[in-house]
Amino acid sequence: MKMGVNWLTALMHVSFCLPTECYLFHKTAETPPQKETIKHSVWRCSICTYDNDETMSSCDICGVLHGPLLNNSIYDKKRTANIFDLKSSRVSSTVVGRDEAVKVSSMRSDSSNQSTEKGKHNRLDEINILKNIEVGPPAGSRTSDNCSASVQEGWLGHVDESSVAVNLRSSGKSSLSLMPKERNVMVDDSSSSRNGGEANSLTSNLENISFAAKSGHSNDANPGRAISRAQYKPEKWMLPEKAEQSLTQLNLAIVGHVDSGKSTLSGRLLHLLGRISQKEMHKYEKEAKLQGKGSFAYAWALDESAEERERGITMTVAVAYFDSKRYHVVVLDSPGHKDFVPNMITGATQADASILVIDASIGSFEAGMDGTKGQTREHAQLIRSFGVDQLIVAVNKMDAVDYSKERFDLIISQLGAFLRSCGFKDSSVSWIPLSAVENQNLVSAPSDFRLFWYLGPNLLDAIDSFQPPTREFSKPLIMPICDVIKSPSQGQVSACGKLEAGAVRSGSKVLVMPSATIATVRSLERDSEACPIGRAGDNIAVSLNGIDGNHVMAGGVLCHPDFPIAFAKHLELKVLVLDGATPILIGSQLEFHIHHAKEAARVARISLLLDSKTGKVVKKAPRCILAKQSAVVEVILQEAVCVEEFSKCKVLGRVFLRTLGRTVAVGIVTRIVEEQQ
Ligand code: GTP
Ligand code: MG
Repeated sequence: MKMGVNWLTALMHVSFCLPTECYLFHKTAETPPQKETIKHSVWRCSICTYDNDETMSSCDICGVLHGPLLNNSIYDKKRTANIFDLKSSRVSSTVVGRDEAVKVSSMRSDSSNQSTEKGKHNRLDEINILKNIEVGPPAGSRTSDNCSASVQEGWLGHVDESSVAVNLRSSGKSSLSLMPKERNVMVDDSSSSRNGGEANSLTSNLENISFAAKSGHSNDANPGRAISRAQYKPEKWMLPEKAEQSLTQLNLAIVGHVDSGKSTLSGRLLHLLGRISQKEMHKYEKEAKLQGKGSFAYAWALDESAEERERGITMTVAVAYFDSKRYHVVVLDSPGHKDFVPNMITGATQADASILVIDASIGSFEAGMDGTKGQTREHAQLIRSFGVDQLIVAVNKMDAVDYSKERFDLIISQLGAFLRSCGFKDSSVSWIPLSAVENQNLVSAPSDFRLFWYLGPNLLDAIDSFQPPTREFSKPLIMPICDVIKSPSQGQVSACGKLEAGAVRSGSKVLVMPSATIATVRSLERDSEACPIGRAGDNIAVSLNGIDGNHVMAGGVLCHPDFPIAFAKHLELKVLVLDGATPILIGSQLEFHIHHAKEAARVARISLLLDSKTGKVVKKAPRCILAKQSAVVEVILQEAVCVEEFSKCKVLGRVFLRTLGRTVAVGIVTRIVEEQQ
């Protein structure tokens, strides 16, 4: 977003209501017991278990459709799935008219207005799964694509991704780290045992698992895919010219345990960097004080809804922007509360890098690390499984522990070992002690003498030390849709999301999946402003012509007409069951998450149990997968999703499985067993 535009107008909020999160929670509130009996003339939602009246064609709580293929007419505005909760001001400029813009999902404000009582259903937002639009054979031929990832890649694709040395902790500003480097530089950090962590960490070892562990079926599920993505020749306009290259966009997810100070840190940074004016800050301070929540003044810049402010927690992902020396940073301030992990995930799927915020206070760091209740571990595991390998650990609230070096070192030693076990390399993790409230070590060197022992960079410098993300400019278009905005009076529809590959401009023809409909790009918007071209890495809103709005849905994908994305419900996955998670059995019912889609899934088969260190097959057809074990499984989804094998397209091939509000496994799609035609 450019200077002069009120940054708040660019705040977007990502909301994604998981089944188990379809209730409103207080910080300490537990999920209300779910009804055990199915009422007469109701149908029970397979996702959130809500008993719907039989007249409802989709779940009243989570929006999941009831029954097979339904007419498009069922897609009333309320039910159209999307997860980005864009402020109407954001939709106002070019994509759709200011007053006409309709947020298709229920709004943040809906959630605040509708229910605040414990146990009452909370329509925070509606699930971003729309299925059942008539899916004809996709236009264009299918590809047997083999472009983006090699089958030699390690567990969840960790191996091929950037791992450049950015160890900033004790060495001061690393001149190296400020230089752009080639990605894929492998750093041997096997000797790096600063924290004496787990020598043979589970996930690092899993990097050795090769796709040889596939079940051996030939991949002939996509016979029509004739054109390889590798053969694609990009047009000249798709590639950025050197001269036009301004700051590289860096999508930065701010994650961490509830109350660790993510929003306060984000708000403070934005204020220090001039994105929040003194006047606005004054307003937040005054309002926060009036409500007896003075300490949340900076957080209020991000936590906009009445409910978030009242409860003092972030519920949806807030998006804001600032420029550093090297990057146009898109801040994705995530919720830390366990009930909103799915929302956090929606932001994390778009992240190039992440800041994991830790509350250094006594007891709080420990609470975040708690295996069952703490979100520090789950967030770290999730962002890593989404391919984020560059991490800043912002050890916040150092003021609360007297800026103690001992406390900082203890956090490094305990959390460092865990991060290693998630697959983060020591060399790609920076540790920054700071205090958001006291403005210590954010954009300048600490002024508090108690931090004299710290010689490393401040937070902003550490952000600038991230390696630039790799962008697939010259690949065919892929944009997973995370939100849909409709302007019924003008008959316009816009798909929002991050361009993962390729580029679009006005007049481009795009294939909208899963409806397999061709549309023409009418205009583009980036950071609330019109832009002529959107390229890989950009978060954009694409206004489409020539398509019925009901054929554009969150969880879908915009792609190149000649390179359609697969649409399937029977998949083979390679999964790793997380530490402490409940075992996965044949027949287990789980929530299946993939990019911006979610589906109910059943484990149909556990084909192979793999040695987590070597990737070798340990057992064929085991009956269950225990925590820390990895396996090849087949899942059958209730409805098909847009998907690709991980070896062909990482972003559409990463999955995770959840149940009862916890993530139980992360994984990748190794094979599309049967594609929907
Ligand atoms: P969720 O989004 O709900 O997970 O919370 P959060 O991580 O965004 O935390 P938030 O910014 O809302 O801050 C929570 C509380 O921590 C507020 O009372 C802040 O004032 C306080 N806080 C944040 N940063 C600091 C800090 O550096 N020092 C101290 N002492 N308190 C802080
Ligand atoms: Mg917050």
